Amino acid sequence: MRWKGRRESDNVEDRRGGGGVKAGGISILGLIVAFVAWKFFGVDPQQAYQATKQVTSAGASQNSAPTNLTPEQQETASFVKTVLADTEDTWKPIFQQQGVQYVSPKLVMFSGVERSGCGTAESAMGPFYCPADQKVYIDTQFFKDMRQQMGISGEKNQSELSAKDEAGDFAQAYVIAHEVGHHVQNLLGISSQVQQARQRASETQGNQLSVRLELQADCLAGVWANRTQQRTQFLEQGDIEEAMDAAEKIGDDYLQKKARGYAVPDSFTHGTSQQRMQWFNIGMNSGDINAFYWKPISILATIALLLCAVRQIRLGSKVSSVQYVRPII
Ligand SMILES: *[C@@H]1O[C@H](CO)[C@@H](O)[C@H](O)[C@H]1NC(C)=O
Ligand SMILES: *[C@@H]1O[C@H](CO)[C@@H](O)[C@H](O)[C@H]1NC(C)=O
Ligand SMILES: [Zn+2]
Repeated sequence: MRWKGRRESDNVEDRRGGGGVKAGGISILGLIVAFVAWKFFGVDPQQAYQATKQVTSAGASQNSAPTNLTPEQQETASFVKTVLADTEDTWKPIFQQQGVQYVSPKLVMFSGVERSGCGTAESAMGPFYCPADQKVYIDTQFFKDMRQQMGISGEKNQSELSAKDEAGDFAQAYVIAHEVGHHVQNLLGISSQVQQARQRASETQGNQLSVRLELQADCLAGVWANRTQQRTQFLEQGDIEEAMDAAEKIGDDYLQKKARGYAVPDSFTHGTSQQRMQWFNIGMNSGDINAFYWKPISILATIALLLCAVRQIRLGSKVSSVQYVRPII
């Protein structure tokens, strides 16, 4: 994947390393500034702290890279910022065409533990999107885990391969694009409609709804790949295989079989490897979020094939039918 030299997004908050050390919402830097203000300028400490908190937390969240990053960590930051910019350049015009404003999500890079609008973020959770604060959270250790623990292939292009023991860059980019797909679903009200439908559904039906939401996010990631390719010609040989390898190894059946030796379809929440690969491909081959495919491979596949059609998601006759009334995207 070619990514160097393109625009980097300003919407990445790099909280790795010593950048944003916080103690229960109190930034150390804020405390020091408040202390200095109080000690030397006689400012009421409470007031000083409140004032500096705003300044320092704004500073910390505004793209201020931690100072002690290794060159490898800096490169990861550049990469993540470029991929996020690619998603912005994909979704802005698509929304604009429909007269809707695209509000970019923020992306938080962290290591270890981080607070999010959806509770505590930990590396073990893997990357996720939090609708409450509209941020994507990613511990960049996950890129290494993808290869070291999940066995997702590394970069095949030897001239791009550095010493990093990580999954290939396109596989990493797919993960980010998938999370941004959840943001798109959130902006369009899809997530909340599915959430409502889940409350009326049984556990099995609820899981099916979750699978559909996940596969749609894969499809939207495919749309990102298509649009970015059209704009920048960023794909290289082996990239699609890399994404397919990733999609396969994060399929529910694959993960369950690996963990337990067998798969339990009713408990799937993200879709099988086959489905995830298929949906990424549908998005990528069309580049169209309203693509409407009608290829009755099987009854199940036909229902699933309506999915990237953001306009309308049908959830099977027995499951409550969710219609997306928004006439456009
Ligand atoms: C490998 O990457 C380099 C640098 O990005 C590029 O010039 C070259 O064409 C790539 N090779 C293949 C086989 O894609
Ligand atoms: C992107 O979509 C267009 C159709 O809109 C298609 O012709 C093209 O092949 C797709 N690009 C990729 C990389 O699949
Ligand atoms: Zn997801």
